[in-house]
Amino acid sequence: MREDTAESTSMHGTTQPMVRLIKVVQRRAGRSTAPSIYGASDLSLIRLWSSRGFCDRVGQRRAHHCPLMPRINPNILLPLPPKSQAPLNYPKSNLKLEDHCIDDLRKLRVAVIGAGLSGISAGILLPAKVPNIDLTIFEKNQDVSGTWLENIYPGVRCDIPAHVYQSTFSPNTQWSERFAQGPEIRDYWQAQARKHDVYRYIKLGHRIEFAEWEEKESNWVVKVHDLKTDETSDEKFDFVILAIGRFNRWKLPDYPGVDEFKGVLRHTSDWDPTFEPKGKTVAVIGNGASGIQVTPALQKTAKHVGHYARNPTWIATSWAGDERIDGPQPYSEEQRESFNDPETYLKFRKELEVKYWRRFKAMLRGSEENAGMRETFIEIMKKRTEGKPELLAGLIPDFAPHCRRLTPGPGYLEAITQDNVEFIQTKIKRFTETGIETIDGNHREYDAIFCATGANIDLAPPFSVKSRGIDLKDAWKPGGVFGFPYTYLGLATPGFPNLLILAGAHATGPSGTVPHSVETQLTYYAKLLRKVSSQGIKTIVPSKKAADDFIEYSDAFFPKTVLTDNCSSWNNGGRPGARIHGLWPGSAAHITIVRRDPRWEDWEYEYITDSGNRFAYFGNGYTKRETEPGADLTTYLKLPSEINLKDLHESWWDLP
Ligand SMILES: Cc1cc2nc3c(=O)[nH]c(=O)nc-3n(C[C@H](O)[C@H](O)[C@H](O)COP(=O)(O)OP(=O)(O)OC[C@H]3O[C@@H](n4cnc5c(N)ncnc54)[C@H](O)[C@@H]3O)c2cc1C
Ligand SMILES: NC(=O)c1ccc[n+]([C@@H]2O[C@H](COP(=O)([O-])OP(=O)(O)OC[C@H]3O[C@@H](n4cnc5c(N)ncnc54)[C@H](OP(=O)(O)O)[C@@H]3O)[C@@H](O)[C@H]2O)c1
Repeated sequence: MREDTAESTSMHGTTQPMVRLIKVVQRRAGRSTAPSIYGASDLSLIRLWSSRGFCDRVGQRRAHHCPLMPRINPNILLPLPPKSQAPLNYPKSNLKLEDHCIDDLRKLRVAVIGAGLSGISAGILLPAKVPNIDLTIFEKNQDVSGTWLENIYPGVRCDIPAHVYQSTFSPNTQWSERFAQGPEIRDYWQAQARKHDVYRYIKLGHRIEFAEWEEKESNWVVKVHDLKTDETSDEKFDFVILAIGRFNRWKLPDYPGVDEFKGVLRHTSDWDPTFEPKGKTVAVIGNGASGIQVTPALQKTAKHVGHYARNPTWIATSWAGDERIDGPQPYSEEQRESFNDPETYLKFRKELEVKYWRRFKAMLRGSEENAGMRETFIEIMKKRTEGKPELLAGLIPDFAPHCRRLTPGPGYLEAITQDNVEFIQTKIKRFTETGIETIDGNHREYDAIFCATGANIDLAPPFSVKSRGIDLKDAWKPGGVFGFPYTYLGLATPGFPNLLILAGAHATGPSGTVPHSVETQLTYYAKLLRKVSSQGIKTIVPSKKAADDFIEYSDAFFPKTVLTDNCSSWNNGGRPGARIHGLWPGSAAHITIVRRDPRWEDWEYEYITDSGNRFAYFGNGYTKRETEPGADLTTYLKLPSEINLKDLHESWWDLP
């Protein structure tokens, strides 16, 4: 081995380019003094002595790690550094320096499961925010959009204004209606996926059937079923993000005789578009948001509708004081034209959206707002059931508004008071070949039965997600090890390293908007993934103590809200009195603050290095940009008009 190359071993058995350089310098100058370590000021002196390219000479293998180190020009006479500056007894380190720049990021293989608006937003934001991410999005359907692709029942539409229920950063200014119909929302999210080039990450028609944490290799193995070829394969990822939706795993009720019914039997999320209701006798089971939308639509065309609603529910006016009518509420051409002006549109959007951030107080038990809501709703329900006033007593719940998600239901009460609708509150006993029998022995015949009976609202994943002997599929179900979706802030769960949960339990505040909440959750995850890939972290998992503290906080908080009234809702998994897991314990603004600055102390880490030194990832002391000729090292210098002191030096990418 040549002594004047980088192969020479320096102090502590580590590779130290500076020391090697000095050694070379000394050798060339005919001196044999032992190499010493020099201070930072010596570097500039050495640079004066030499020209660039030292790395080329001292070894190709290391050249890219220290391209700024100078090349020795043998024609230059090199002065030696003053001897007095050499520390004689410098402390010895046991750490073997890693040979890379501090921002030489680890590539992270990340799998997102699901391409509804959450998965699409992940496909837009994660590649933008997480350098070196290797992203794959698995979607079982043949296209993206989740809820809005699958739900095609008559009457399906957003009950939040379309201008609010969209991405914050890439709005459609040209929504046709105030409360857009399902297909327009589907088209919007598919257009977002195209616009932001998300399809390149997506594997359509690929269903994940199993995910297991492999402790030894510190990665997730997911079983992927290609629905086209019917082949199943295992793929490995550093991280898995569940974005499978809360209402995607719809379920038919399990009444005796369900399989015997000979007519059309469908869940509303599995609508048969060829079904023609005209002249038919149909049943709708359930008075959640879906049942309330589909019933008036069917009432208009079917011969007869039997509507089974075993519990009362509040029929709201609207979510935030917006005017609601049964049917389209289109924007005029003139209004839409005005939205082409960015400032006009921003003003319009802010005025509309702010109402959705101000609704939180009405959630609080005993609040004036909630009491006021109750009075208003009773007044309105009275008025809208004038056709059949005898129905009213059975329609008014004994729980407070907001215990269940509000259902504005334009046209619903008007529909159930029509002569071709029978409103049935008696519980169902069984299905027969021809219809439904209720527990009072009445039997009614139907051509078709539509179950608007919701989804697996326990939020347990419908496929196995296993780690360290626990399967979330069972553990989160009532009677399971945890018995409810046990999470840290709804973000992740103890014992499941590198598993993140998007738009799952506790994901949104009772106020705010779903897209905003998804974006802030993804921003949190981006920070987490950047930390992992840049700080030599192998695994990250929330501590049990942190998750337990969160549950304790939630248990203290939710009784202050009407969510813990005696109602069945997807907030409590359909079990009155069970822990609330559907919403965040606080307002939407509150959850936004919680997600802004991750509490890293609540997470537990395993590191890639086996040195035991948390700073091993500091590497060779350089940043990558310093090694790139021409790279902008002064990104922080901006036009004074662009500087907001609150944000100064806060942007993660704004670094030399
Ligand atoms: C009919 C209906 C109307 C709604 N209206 C409103 C509204 O007006 N306002 C509102 O705020 N919210 C509404 N919601 C709630 C709505 O679900 C959310 O707002 C939002 O669409 C959720 O998006 P997501 O991407 O998280 O989930 P989803 O849209 O459910 O997407 C989940 C995706 O994951 C995929 N997936 C699931 N399992 C797997 C697997 N094993 N492998 C691969 N892919 C998988 C699914 O195919 C789906 O595409 C409504 C829900 C329904 C059902
Ligand atoms: N934009 C919209 O307007 C809209 C439309 C659809 C859905 N959504 C969203 O999706 C969520 C889910 O709505 P969803 O209507 O599909 O489900 P849901 O709100 O959970 O309602 C399910 C309904 O089915 C009933 N039900 C369940 N099992 C039953 C059984 N075995 N027998 C009889 N009735 C049964 C429930 O009755 P109990 O209450 O008695 O259990 C409830 O009325 C909504 O809360 C909302 O977030 C929004």
